[in-house]
Amino acid sequence: MKKFKRTLVTTALPYANGPIHIGHLAGVYVPADIYVRYLRLKGDDVLHVGGSDEHGVPITLTARKEGVTPQDIVDKYHKINKDAFEEFGISFDIYSRTSNKIHHETASQFFKNLYEKGVFIEKESEQYYDEEVQQFLADRYITGTCPHCGNDSAYGDQCENCGTSLNSLDLINPKSTISGSTPVKRQTNHWYLPLDKYEPFLQKWILDEHKEWKSNVYGQCKSWLALGLQPRAVSRDLDWGVPVPVDGAKGKVLYVWFDAPIGYISATKELTPDWEKYWKDPESRLIHFIGKDNIVFHCIIFPTMLHAEGSFNLPDNVPANEFLNLENKKISTSKNYAVWLHEYLVDFKDKQDVLRYILTANAPETKDNDFNWKDFQARNNNELVAIFGNFVNRTMVLTHKYFEGKVPIPSKFDNFDNETLDNISTIVKNVEDALEHFKFRDAIKEAMNLARLGNKYLADSEPWKTINNDKEKTATILYVSLQITANLSLLMEPFLPFSANKLRKMLNIETVDWNLCGQKEILKSGHSIEKPQLLFEKIDDNPIKTQIDKLKASKEEEETPTNTINPVKPDISFDDFSKLDIRVGTILSAEKVPKTKKLLKLKIDTGIDQRTVVSGIAEHYDPENIIGKQVTILMNLAPRNIKGIESQGMILCAKDKEDKLLLVQPSEQIIDGAEVN
Ligand code: 2FM
Ligand code: ZN
Repeated sequence: MKKFKRTLVTTALPYANGPIHIGHLAGVYVPADIYVRYLRLKGDDVLHVGGSDEHGVPITLTARKEGVTPQDIVDKYHKINKDAFEEFGISFDIYSRTSNKIHHETASQFFKNLYEKGVFIEKESEQYYDEEVQQFLADRYITGTCPHCGNDSAYGDQCENCGTSLNSLDLINPKSTISGSTPVKRQTNHWYLPLDKYEPFLQKWILDEHKEWKSNVYGQCKSWLALGLQPRAVSRDLDWGVPVPVDGAKGKVLYVWFDAPIGYISATKELTPDWEKYWKDPESRLIHFIGKDNIVFHCIIFPTMLHAEGSFNLPDNVPANEFLNLENKKISTSKNYAVWLHEYLVDFKDKQDVLRYILTANAPETKDNDFNWKDFQARNNNELVAIFGNFVNRTMVLTHKYFEGKVPIPSKFDNFDNETLDNISTIVKNVEDALEHFKFRDAIKEAMNLARLGNKYLADSEPWKTINNDKEKTATILYVSLQITANLSLLMEPFLPFSANKLRKMLNIETVDWNLCGQKEILKSGHSIEKPQLLFEKIDDNPIKTQIDKLKASKEEEETPTNTINPVKPDISFDDFSKLDIRVGTILSAEKVPKTKKLLKLKIDTGIDQRTVVSGIAEHYDPENIIGKQVTILMNLAPRNIKGIESQGMILCAKDKEDKLLLVQPSEQIIDGAEVN
């Protein structure tokens, strides 16, 4: 492996359009933070840059919906997310934002450099334009009928009913969501990054030179390249973003995915005047931590931009993770189905490390994984409390009990003691090896093995028994246990920084240095330790139930509109409406239609006549219970033959949340034949 002098770690800039959830944390920020803390502790020169991605169409949509400006939206979420990350112990060297002036200047200059080098191609294309508000419409601002499935509320870029990716020009009956008017097609020009031209470079750089990348990342790049790349537009007709710095580009901004990764550069610039050293010196290493949906941007598009510019390093590694599900369901910001970081920090005060632990032990490193609250509780109680916390507590309590809180002098080592001490450095090496290869699940498992080792050592050596007749042996056992404890206080620092720090305070360890890890004598005999406090506490069923209930509630909330409330149908004229003859009538008789589950044959007194109507309500109403009820009936629906019975009209019903059909009735008794209008 090449040796580097310094490392620049970037973490995906989350959109400042909503709060951070556990999926973001497990996929990106927790592993990155572990890695960065580890390198810092080793004394490496490392920077961790991150920040908010504050451009793009969804932010403008949210702003419009809430009746505020996009800047208001990003100000709000930037603060929520920055504060939450800080409280959670994600140790950024800078958490910047792409609406900053320095970012606008940097992104603008980057575009200009490529433009002047003749990298882009400029092309005209047809796009929808809203004449009423005089602006081009991003795909998300257009709805219409899906040409594939007929869903009449498909978006310009995707139909959420059949899942097909769409081109807004293919929508039937397109409508602007801004003004409601029908948009017109207009010519517009954009700048494109000709990715196809860079295929040979990408093939060689990724497929030949980066075979060591994680297989999920390498595999995705390979498929993209096998499919062949197309030129990508890097500008948009929009009024929110970094303006395209070219004459005649009024009303155009850089595509959000063009400016966002440049945000890593602007943030480094903002952080240090030495920024170029981190980005351009061949002895500096660039690592992007991201989720799998960002792979193409960080492995193909951004590297192509950097390569075309010519003076920047390319990423050395992109250890992307897969997705985390929540209680076996996809996490969704728009559907409010998530565990939000800022809420977790309130609901589980001072329990940052518990979440850090679970998200690492269960990280979606090679495949999608599930987070569930029962597992959260079990891992806290059975691992953090029962293994790590318990070992530390017993060691420290016994040291106070038998040796007045001082590290005893060991004088009676046997093979078991020596082997145990030797095992410490083996475990430390395993942790290091896993961390160097971005295998954070393995790393935390190995680190916990040190606590397991300590627990077993104590249980097998039984100092509470040896104290009765062999104080020297007891001194040796507690000496060994204290060295394990001290090692834990350093080894756990990248993973569980709050608890490791608390433990070091209890042990009066001032030097925080990874190079001490693995040593057999971190604490010298005679060194005083403080009285122990619990590192972790049991979590009982109540808070877990509260969280599960909270998720259930948001699931129900989400299901109501998607299952039962359809979008409004296209307008009709009053004339159309008055063609419907809807009246109130009374059910005179009702019987089940033989050999059907759903149908009832009703005789209705409509005030004008008595007629037969077949209605699909048999699963919701017993025939004997509905005789005498008033209903509304569509009188002039052309008669239809249903199961051999002529149905002369239709009874109006509405469906509730559980799909139960309810009769639509007048709120008070009224004469039969009364018209509904
Ligand atoms: O997917 C996202 O949330 C993007 N905002 C990530 C951007 S990463 C980078 F390019 F800034
Ligand atoms: Zn569709």
